Amino acid sequence: MLLAVHSSPKRDGNLERMVVRTAEATGREYRLIRLADFRIAPCVGCVRCAHSKRCVQKDEMAPLYDELESADGLIMGGVNFNGRVNAVAHLFLERLYPLYHRDPAFRDKPAAVVAVGGETPGPAASDIVEYLRDIYYFHVVGTALFTSDNPPCLSCGYGATCPVGIPALYWSPEACEALKRNRNRTSVFRRFEDDPDIVAACERLGTTLLAAIG
Ligand SMILES: Cc1cc2nc3c(=O)[nH]c(=O)nc-3n(C[C@H](O)[C@H](O)[C@H](O)COP(=O)(O)O)c2cc1C
Repeated sequence: MLLAVHSSPKRDGNLERMVVRTAEATGREYRLIRLADFRIAPCVGCVRCAHSKRCVQKDEMAPLYDELESADGLIMGGVNFNGRVNAVAHLFLERLYPLYHRDPAFRDKPAAVVAVGGETPGPAASDIVEYLRDIYYFHVVGTALFTSDNPPCLSCGYGATCPVGIPALYWSPEACEALKRNRNRTSVFRRFEDDPDIVAACERLGTTLLAAIG
């Protein structure tokens, strides 16, 4: 059994569909976990998990420990919020700590990472990769990334007229003017399925994960 976990608050958004595509490409049974639906508190730092390998907090993270421990592999997806992986992902990653002590449960467990960003998915991916690989000893087999071309400043209603929005800060004056004229830019709300390279990247990631599981 694989766990396919993601941190987007959007149901069936690009991230969720990419995670599912990656999981399907493995051909293995998987369970999809939308972390945004779970109430996960931050670590309280008591370190009592060093003895029990379980967290003292009985929130919605608690039932996931058994599943994480026995899973053959993990697919984890995250979105870029403000230049880093969003907080929902961070809470989950922080709370994996009980499975770390003495004989880390995740040592060499294969993991695949998927990330979406309006402008840059890379920071969300590297935050997850570094956490999984460098803290918990997962064997991270690769990543699949997608730029949705959908910074929040294109859907908030102010677009290029907001002085601290992404268009005003980073786009050329010509691109800002074009956005003001055409608020329904055709490239907004791109779907990863429309880019064969991204679809192939997800499918390759799934087969690489399967090979690592053996
Ligand atoms: C609060 C917030 C902050 C964001 N900050 C960034 C950012 O710094 N860089 C970026 O590339 N995208 C940023 N985005 C855009 C999201 O990464 C983007 O909407 C992504 O496509 C969401 O994927 P989903 O549709 O699968 O949920 C931000 C979105 C929100 C809501």
